Amino acid sequence: MKGLSILGSTGSIGTNVLRVVDAFEGRFRVVGLAAGGNVERLAEQVARYRPRIVSLQDAGALERLSRLVDLSGIRALAGTVGMVEVATASEAQTVVASAVGAVGLVPTYRALEAGKDVALANKETLVMAGELMLARARDTGARLLPIDSEHCALHECLDGRRVEDVKRLILTASGGPFRGRPRETLDRVTREEALAHPTWRMGPKITIDSATLMNKGLEVIEARWLFGVPASRIDVIIHPQSVIHSLVELVDGTVLAQLGVTDMRMPIQYALSYPERWPAAIPGMDFSQALRLEFEPPERAKFPCLALAYRALEAGGTAPAALNAANEEAVAAFLDGRAGFTGIPETIEAVLESERPAPAGSLEDVLDADRRARERARQILARRPAARVLT
Ligand SMILES: NC(=O)c1ccc[n+]([C@@H]2O[C@H](COP(=O)([O-])OP(=O)(O)OC[C@H]3O[C@@H](n4cnc5c(N)ncnc54)[C@H](OP(=O)(O)O)[C@@H]3O)[C@@H](O)[C@H]2O)c1
Repeated sequence: MKGLSILGSTGSIGTNVLRVVDAFEGRFRVVGLAAGGNVERLAEQVARYRPRIVSLQDAGALERLSRLVDLSGIRALAGTVGMVEVATASEAQTVVASAVGAVGLVPTYRALEAGKDVALANKETLVMAGELMLARARDTGARLLPIDSEHCALHECLDGRRVEDVKRLILTASGGPFRGRPRETLDRVTREEALAHPTWRMGPKITIDSATLMNKGLEVIEARWLFGVPASRIDVIIHPQSVIHSLVELVDGTVLAQLGVTDMRMPIQYALSYPERWPAAIPGMDFSQALRLEFEPPERAKFPCLALAYRALEAGGTAPAALNAANEEAVAAFLDGRAGFTGIPETIEAVLESERPAPAGSLEDVLDADRRARERARQILARRPAARVLT
């Protein structure tokens, strides 16, 4: 049985990970669960899986958990310290990094440092500190396997191939809910419209990232580190059906694609079973129905977040961490009605312009850049005119 610790067990990815665990009885033992503030869902998970260690975002949440479920024999902790303990628990061979945002960075990094295999959904960690994380994985022999469906697809297409044989990686994007919508109307979109993703059901932050195309920008940076391919050889195409999860073009012109249903249990199962293949617990593709596959270039001027991500990757050092921090702050402001949709790229651009990237030689360098960029983003967001604020 493989020991699993799950960071972000109460979220969209975390709950799908537990569905995969349930589908393969006897293969996994849930050792650790870490969550933020969804105490009720964590209580249900604790009652069902009886992990050895749990963690919540703060002591208040922990107190509420202890009133909902019997914690005898379970180490119960809070904050980053608690999450790090879950990520480095001795009985865990694999850590699923599925918390959202920068909060996952230190625990995921410590898991790699402790030699744990990491199944990674929490892409923000690689965006912030890709080079450092890859270096730790190399030092300890830990494996870093992507859960993001696009990177899972690239991993499948690349398996065993030499990087020199690859001409380019092509990430597919659905285009989000505002594909085809006139650019000049984007400053009036509502939270509800932005949260209505056409093909995937996901947590709120990644859903907004998909609507701005920042999700694809973060994925370009993620792919750069996971596969060692420079940004100049990573492309993005819009593919509204989300059937092809990504493509690899080889130097001889061959293009390899990975197709699959839009169900995150597929890439989760791949990451947890790799290098083995297990029979799928979900229905596969239905080719008995007519199937159309469309492709178009991304509307780069309409969705500036994509270019901002390439720009941060090019600038290097702490620039991607600043990009990520500014994006997290701007998306949070949009979600709670303090900023309009177009305020997201505007804030990120202003933060990148004000921040000179420094070398990202240590985790502290990255965390410092994250703090500075958040502070700057909050100042910019506080100054934005109220007329741009929509709910
Ligand atoms: N959803 C998808 O299909 C998908 C696909 C590809 C990649 N991803 C990536 O996977 C990650 C998770 O996405 P999601 O859609 O699952 O997000 P989500 O549904 O919002 O879940 C986020 C998880 O992070 C936890 N969390 C938040 N703040 C925390 C804190 N301070 N301390 C500890 N835990 C905290 C949440 O806990 P509480 O709920 O208890 O607060 C929850 O368990 C993101 O990086 C996303 O980009 C997601």
